[in-house]
Formats: sequence, C-alpha cells, structure tokens
Amino acid sequence: MSAKPTGNPVSAAGPAPDAAASPATAAPLLEVVDLCTGFHTPRGLVRAVDHVSIAVRPEETLGIVGESGSGKSVFARSVMGLIAPGQRVERTGRIMFAGRDLVRLPRRELRKMWGSEIAMVLQDPLTSLNPVTRIGRQISETVRRHRPELSRGEAEAASVELLRSVGIPEPAKRMHAYPHQLSGGMRQRVGIAIALAGNPRLLFADEPTTALDVTVQHQILDLLGRQQAERHMAMVLVTHDLGVVATRTDRIAVMYAGRIVETAPTRTLFANVMMPYTRALLDALPRLEEPSHTRLNAIPGHPPNLAVPMPGCRFADRCPAARRKCREQEPPLVQADDPEHSYRCWYPVGSPEYESSAAAGTETTERSGSDQGAMRER
Ligand SMILES: Nc1ncnc2c1ncn2[C@@H]1O[C@H](COP(=O)(O)OP(=O)(O)OP(=O)(O)O)[C@@H](O)[C@H]1O
Ligand code: SF4
Ligand SMILES: [Mg+2]
Repeated sequence: MSAKPTGNPVSAAGPAPDAAASPATAAPLLEVVDLCTGFHTPRGLVRAVDHVSIAVRPEETLGIVGESGSGKSVFARSVMGLIAPGQRVERTGRIMFAGRDLVRLPRRELRKMWGSEIAMVLQDPLTSLNPVTRIGRQISETVRRHRPELSRGEAEAASVELLRSVGIPEPAKRMHAYPHQLSGGMRQRVGIAIALAGNPRLLFADEPTTALDVTVQHQILDLLGRQQAERHMAMVLVTHDLGVVATRTDRIAVMYAGRIVETAPTRTLFANVMMPYTRALLDALPRLEEPSHTRLNAIPGHPPNLAVPMPGCRFADRCPAARRKCREQEPPLVQADDPEHSYRCWYPVGSPEYESSAAAGTETTERSGSDQGAMRER
C-alpha cells in the first residue's frame, strides 16, 4: 500500500522548537534487544518484526512510524505480551522493562504489570470497551483491580475524577452511559482513562487518533501529551503519519517491512534524513506553505511480502537510488554524525548516488566492472 498523508501538515522547518529531547544519558525504562515476532501461515513464516532493537527512557516519547503492514502494531503487542508465543507464533529476543525480561516472565506475572506498569490505548476503543456495560462500571472495575483497598463508592469517585482528568464534561453523568452513546472522541477519552487508571510508567498508543476527525485528533494527542507530562510517563506513539510525531516526540523510529530502518532524535531526523524511505514518507506529507489543491506525493509500489526472505534492502523495489548492491546485500544499521542517529542504507540521502538518481527520478542499477557505468534498469 502506498503512504497516504492524512491531513497532518508539517512545516518544512520540521518539528516545533519545544519538542524537547530527553536526556540521552538516562537509563532505559524499556530496552528491546533483537526482537523477532513471526507468524506461521500457509504462505510461510511472516516475519512481522525482524531483529528490532530499541530503547525508551523514562518520561520519553518515542514515535514509531511506517506504512501499513510495517510491523508497528505487532511490535507494540509483542512488547506488551499480547501476542502469546504458541504453535503459530515465534517470539525471540529480550524485552527488558525496569530490569525484568518480559519474554521470559511467567504469564501470571506479566498480567500483573498490565495497566500498572505498561498500558495500551488502541485505535478504536469500541474493540476494548464492553458494549453492554456502562462506562462507569468498566472504569470502576479497572480502578478496583489496581487499588483493591478502595470501597465501591471510593472507586466510583476515583473513576469520576479520572473521567474529569481526560476532559469528559459532566463526568458523573457520563458514568451511566454505554459506549455507543458517546462520540468517537469521547470514547477514546474513556479508553485513555482506563489505560491510565493503574498509573502506568509506559503507555503504548497505537494509532490512537486514526479513526477520528482532524480537530478531535489534535485534542486527543494534546490530552495524551498533558497526561504524560503530569504523570511522568514514557510513551510510545505508533502512527503511519510522520506529521503526527513531528511535534510530539523526542525520538522517532521508522519501521519498514519489520525492520527499523532509521532512528534519531526528532529534530535530528527532520534536519538530516538519511534513509530514502524516511525521505519518501516526508515527501508524502502535506505542507502548510503549499496551496490547498497541491497534488500529494504517494510512495509508488508496495511493501514486500514478509513471508518471502529478502537478501538485500527491503526498500529496493521502491527506491529511486536502488543499485545492484542494494538488491544483493542488506545494509546494516550504521551511525550518522549524531551518535543517536542510525539508518540502513548503502546510498543515503545526500550521497552522490542518491542525489543523481533522485534527480533523474528513475531507478538505476550498476553494472559490474570498472568500464561499465550505471545504466537504467527499467
Ligand atoms: N496474526 C497474524 N498472523 C499472520 N500475519 C500477521 C498477524 N498479525 C499481523 N500479521 C502481519 O504482520 C505484518 C505487520 O502487521 P502490523 O499489524 O504490525 O502492521 P502495522 O504497521 O501496525 O500496520 P497498520 O498501520 O495498518 O496498523 C503484516 O504483514 C500483517 O499482515
Ligand atoms: S539506496 Fe539502496 S540501500 Fe538505500 S534505501 Fe535505496 S535501495 Fe535501500
Ligand atoms: Mg497497526
């Protein structure tokens, strides 16, 4: 599927100056090392998350960005332990959270951490809310699970406060509503209230605003940012939209076909994109300075089939700078000028190979031998 911009314009200047970077020296709260999650299917093993390593520091906001099918949700669900290893699923690697390896933690112990240590806000809270139970009861039950010492009345009072804190008007009255009686934005606020009920240290927000209109999207993202700051939480914001993370994250990891292909502090990434896929995502964004009917760029082609092993760069079929080496050898993650910035690419943005190919606008390939120059592949 091609990248579709979703109406979150970003200034060409990139992120806002207040997108503060978290201290690079802080010890990670979450450290994922070489995580692989694959699904056995009739088509073969689908490598949805393929050797991913990333860390999240306390109070930091990490954005995970990529097109549909790049493995963002499988990554988030793998870390949460919501994809249980079984006959059809393979999960390997280490997921260190506050000193414990979640991959090896007994399921009973992991469940105790849900909500109180790590919580998740989903794209559509209708899938997580019970449609036949009033929201007050759903929140109160969550509150009492985390704070069993509270009486029923105390839990209800705490639930009203939670609803108030996420911006639900007349929260005492809303306690009696069923999920379908609320708007999409209000339902998402309830979903956020439930996720926050146990005061987690890390919140995964997986496309929390995709189902909402643009104005409500901004309100919900602002709410998440406020709650994060007040509660000193870390947050992983998963989205297919670089515009969403531009002003709201400290660091960004770009995923493509199950791999992290570029990661950097947000400001560094916007100032110095190296990986052609990130460049293409950026080019697909609507820009504030362009007239309203400007045609948007989509990334031509489709992501690769994850059930088919690939020897080279996974973006090669869609990259304007792809050459023979790209198809034969996968580029490793290498460090850019900023030690916090790494990317996978043999001919990064700014290299003569990339710039000449991008200028030509067509894919090129190299012929082997010193007397053979680059030639058009198609
Ligand atoms: N249970 C499953 N069995 C087989 N394949 C799966 C399963 N769940 C996910 N996949 C595959 O894993 C890949 C990554 O999926 P994932 O849902 O993580 O993508 P995503 O980046 O979150 O996309 P989107 O932006 O559409 O939410 C996709 O190719 C998907 O088809
Ligand atoms: S230049 Fe080569 S290695 Fe870099 S993204 Fe394009 S295809 Fe991949
Ligand atoms: Mg997803």
